[in-house]
Amino acid sequence: MIRAFTTATLEHFLNVIDIWTKEPQYIIPPVLRGEIISDETFSNSSNNLRRIIYRKLIPKQPKRDKVVLQKISFYNFEHKKEYLVTYEPISMSDKEIEPSDLPFYYPKLKQFSHSYISIQNTKVVEDENNFKLTEKEKSKLDDVLKESVLPNIAELVFNAVPFEGLEIELESDRFKVIWGKLLTTFLKFLKNPNYEKRVIHDIIVPKINYQDRYYILKEKYSHWIEKWPESTDPKKHVFEDVAIATFLILMWEEEGQRNGVEKKQSFVDVGCGNGFLTYILTNEGYFGKGIDISKRKLWDMFDIEVALEERIINPREEKYEGFDWIIGNHPDELTLWIPIFAAKTGYNIKFIIIPCCFHKLSGEKFTESDPHYINHIDMHIKNAGYTSEHEFLRMPSTKNLAIISRKRIFSVTEKEIERDILENIEKMQSITSLNRLQDVHHGTLFAIAEHIHFFTEVDIGI
Ligand SMILES: C[S@@+](CC[C@H](N)C(=O)[O-])C[C@H]1O[C@@H](n2cnc3c(N)ncnc32)[C@H](O)[C@@H]1O
Repeated sequence: MIRAFTTATLEHFLNVIDIWTKEPQYIIPPVLRGEIISDETFSNSSNNLRRIIYRKLIPKQPKRDKVVLQKISFYNFEHKKEYLVTYEPISMSDKEIEPSDLPFYYPKLKQFSHSYISIQNTKVVEDENNFKLTEKEKSKLDDVLKESVLPNIAELVFNAVPFEGLEIELESDRFKVIWGKLLTTFLKFLKNPNYEKRVIHDIIVPKINYQDRYYILKEKYSHWIEKWPESTDPKKHVFEDVAIATFLILMWEEEGQRNGVEKKQSFVDVGCGNGFLTYILTNEGYFGKGIDISKRKLWDMFDIEVALEERIINPREEKYEGFDWIIGNHPDELTLWIPIFAAKTGYNIKFIIIPCCFHKLSGEKFTESDPHYINHIDMHIKNAGYTSEHEFLRMPSTKNLAIISRKRIFSVTEKEIERDILENIEKMQSITSLNRLQDVHHGTLFAIAEHIHFFTEVDIGI
């Protein structure tokens, strides 16, 4: 048994239990997610039982690690001012669960529990060595506690019940370290009871759908890691592109269902680089193409026909008629041009930008901090007549914000608004002077700014 004192309230304690029940991956990294199978509450049970949850722990590596079915029981012993939550692994067959049924990520324990025992004014504090206070000291402490300005004092107790014959487990250093860390993490969560996920995930694409499809696609495409011909990190590129493709495919499937359209979406990937994202989407049945200034080795290795164009995108002239979506994954100098390409193409085309390095419309580097740049992209999108939605993609990269523009800010019949937007774009293009220079060292062409006339909100405001 290990324990700590806390000033957190019972509500805080139950809040952390709730977060850990729903999101077990926060404390058990090999777990992908928890799936709640049933959740039953009892208002008047004789044994102080208040709630039972059955949940499944789904591992990240389903081929290697087993799923664990777990029973979580909540007890409220009001007379002892104790709230107890117990966790037991449950056998998925008729026979009783055994330690060998449990995967490595799950402790070899028959049961473990977390409890919250309110001690203010009710119980005398004793330290871990069972140090006893004298009666006089107890009454003094009671007086202090009565006058205490602290809202609460409670004991947080973590207990474990070993399997028969495995009592030694509890004495191991490993167990003590893990349990100590768990208690510290619990205290951290208690200090921040209003803990919420800081980033916006799973708004457009539900987490479960995403995770399930991601693992299927990851399996299908990870063999490219071994034969990656580029000097870039293969794992990073393969996993990131699989993650982006997963998100796009699920968003597009939902879009198709919502609109009752069976035909799959088409796309143009601008600044497609190694073309791997274009390849995955093509292989998954989406018609589209990738464009980049310079061809990469990978382009010649794809086992299917992938439409990849080696050419410079002239920002002023680009339009993508006949395509449904423009994709800009880390599109550098083209980032702010994508809303313009879309607006000039027509009313129905949509786009997604995953920004990375910050560039002005002129191509010059933008020096402001991230949030400012994101606001700037959003303003630019609005000026092109689109709304923007943000979603942090579930992928191993810090540059994982996706800006999705799939709705216009005017209706298809409001032709005057569209005309004003296009006029503003024309005006903006004419004062943003771009010059094309040949880079003799690399033999490639880059669009760079001759004069920097950066456009402000006022210039193209609508
Ligand atoms: C940071 S890389 C991103 C590549 C790829 N989308 C990815 O995420 O792996 C930006 C790409 O945009 C391409 N690019 C930049 N300006 C371009 C232009 N005007 N025409 C065509 N490609 C351009 C570059 O060659 C480069 O491959």
